[in-house]
Amino acid sequence: MSSAGEQRFINENRYRSVLARLSASPTLKAIFAEAYGDDYPVEADPFGFVSLSELRVMADTLAGSAVSRLLDVGCGRGGPGLWIARELGASLLGVDVVAEAVVAAYQHAAALGMAERAEFRVASGTDTHLPAGAFDGAVSIDALWMIQDKAAAFRELARVLSSGSPVVFTTWEPPHLDYAVFLTSAGFTGVAKRPMPDAMNAQIAVYDAILHCQPTLKAELGEDAAGIIIAEAIETPRMLQTAPRIMVSAARG
Ligand SMILES: C[S@@+](CC[C@H](N)C(=O)[O-])C[C@H]1O[C@@H](n2cnc3c(N)ncnc32)[C@H](O)[C@@H]1O
Repeated sequence: MSSAGEQRFINENRYRSVLARLSASPTLKAIFAEAYGDDYPVEADPFGFVSLSELRVMADTLAGSAVSRLLDVGCGRGGPGLWIARELGASLLGVDVVAEAVVAAYQHAAALGMAERAEFRVASGTDTHLPAGAFDGAVSIDALWMIQDKAAAFRELARVLSSGSPVVFTTWEPPHLDYAVFLTSAGFTGVAKRPMPDAMNAQIAVYDAILHCQPTLKAELGEDAAGIIIAEAIETPRMLQTAPRIMVSAARG
């Protein structure tokens, strides 16, 4: 792998130690639950900032299209994609670059009684090795912002979706990066962006609490994993001013 390729691999894997240790941190989960209150999606157990109401909107967005084979790009530990697939009565295939996340996703599927219709693979959203046209709907929850080659990710999404299939995803959009351009270049139509201004308060509350709980988080997660989320809690709030959280939907042309 080239040094540029190695750098990309490291960046896209940077939550590996956190994803591997997450179940050992009741404090981090409690921080999210407190910040989101009734809007915390307990069953989905996300590793990200998706709320229960956002998951409902995503499921509703797909529900009009009778999705039966759902793809989740950057599935992490699986919960949010499983939650949406269950709402739709669809099967689910999730891909993530972190093997530890995929192991946890299988456990989550079993816990939700969805083992029979959920599959997870270690693969990049830019090159899934999945068959062309194999899915009739796709989601991605808080993952596309991490994928460095976004043009490749949307080309790959277009390849594995059948014609007319809907996609809906959450991400953060800085000024220099227009997701509509990636989508239309890859052949998607009907791009709709939904700003989510209320999401910023909960995200900032999570970061504040992380900074207040540093010793506990280090004890539960270990120095390495805790250091990654503490650094994010320090650096991200100022970026949220110019990179708002959005939900985007479109259809494969
Ligand atoms: C913030 S987490 C969200 C995980 C999950 N969707 C959730 O909401 O719980 C972002 C995920 O994207 C994954 N990821 C990063 N780059 C990726 C890539 N190129 N292909 C697939 N997954 C990727 C990370 O490993 C991580 O699990």
